Amino acid sequence: MINAPRGTNDIIPPESSKWNYLESEARSIFDLYNYQEIRTPIFEYTELFQRGIGEVTDIVEKEMYTFKDKSGRSITLRPEGTASVVRSFLENKVYGQAQPTKYYYIGPMFRYERPQAGRYRQFNQLGVEVFGTKDPMVDAEVIALGINYLNNLGLSDLKLYINSIGCPNCRPHYLKKLKGYLQKNKNSLCDNCKQRIDKNPLRILDCKNEVCQLVVNKAPKLIDHLCEECNTHFNSLKMSLENIEIQYIIDPNLVRGLDYYTKTAFEVKYDGLGAQDTIFGGGRYDKLAEEIGERDIPGIGFALGIERLLLTMEKQDVEIPDDKSLDIYITTIGKKAKNVSFKLINQFRKNNIKAEIDYLDRSVGGQMKSADRMNATYTVIIGQDELESNKATVRNMKSGDQQEIQLDEIVESIKKMI
Ligand code: HAM
Repeated sequence: MINAPRGTNDIIPPESSKWNYLESEARSIFDLYNYQEIRTPIFEYTELFQRGIGEVTDIVEKEMYTFKDKSGRSITLRPEGTASVVRSFLENKVYGQAQPTKYYYIGPMFRYERPQAGRYRQFNQLGVEVFGTKDPMVDAEVIALGINYLNNLGLSDLKLYINSIGCPNCRPHYLKKLKGYLQKNKNSLCDNCKQRIDKNPLRILDCKNEVCQLVVNKAPKLIDHLCEECNTHFNSLKMSLENIEIQYIIDPNLVRGLDYYTKTAFEVKYDGLGAQDTIFGGGRYDKLAEEIGERDIPGIGFALGIERLLLTMEKQDVEIPDDKSLDIYITTIGKKAKNVSFKLINQFRKNNIKAEIDYLDRSVGGQMKSADRMNATYTVIIGQDELESNKATVRNMKSGDQQEIQLDEIVESIKKMI
């Protein structure tokens, strides 16, 4: 027996119908907000993620599925969607069209992480990216879209955390201050963070280790060191969120795990999820297009983990509509009846009537049990007698009422009944 690789999941019925539901609800709300779908390749040249996400990030340092293809090029299974979407936007010269461009995507991502509840090696994101506008109101639109999606599904008790992580104008000054402070307190940091002081000090703000958090609590805050432009942007974002009554918590230590962010960074969490409690996260990345394709194009977006969304729905006992029911189950008696029924079921399906038939030569009792299990609204019973009289018995499975209907009129009659 060969099992699926560690950290991957099969999505099998009835679970798959929940996925269909979540994806179709997402498509509806994306459409409502006027976002269009983009599909990019599952793999890209490794360089894209190295340059886009940043060399000194956990993703690029430790988590990428990278391999050489047969021609020796380094290929990576996408660990996230943003870098690919920016690459596509640039490569297809979409910046030449009227802006802004509003995209959404749904699909699998790959990260070699230690699997645990809510963290997998192949996981699925749905996300949005908006290009071509610096308007902070768009930051609020993107956040509102994500939150409204979750609320429409019936989720509650979600917390939105926001922060500004500055820009290349203000961040270097702040980083100098932060590094100075961290150097002074180096001995109180965990080993991992000691290493990070020079390489990526911002990530220390995000360390879950208690000893580090004591140091971080007293560290200088980026939002106190923003330049005029970043400060105005952050204030406008807060105003826009208040304008549409979205509550937020400012978390000065929210830095995110990817290096491309500028200005706005945000995360939506549900406390009941345990260690992996972020349902979606995102932010603004006004310098990423420059990094990838030397074009000055601002961007903002988020991505939501579908597995984590499902876990949250389970924790909150949110019902997902079940589409398992069947219009018709045809119960047959004998070979001849089965042939006639096979033709009939074909006609039902052509007329958009969801129908099923027995392929295991079960007894009549067994077929009626199948009809019940499949939640059929009606059963049509066809045997020798029915063939001779050219009539079938149609039974309403809920009420038990039965009636006889002419075989050549049955499709039309059932169409009216369902
Ligand atoms: P991220 O925070 O790395 O951001 O991932 C977004 C979401 O994907 C997380 O909040 C989580 O729900 C889910 N996720 C991440 N890793 C895993 C995993 N190993 N297993 C299960 N779920 C996971 C990004 O990916 C950015 N591209 C978001 C973005 C879009 N920023 C701007 N635009």
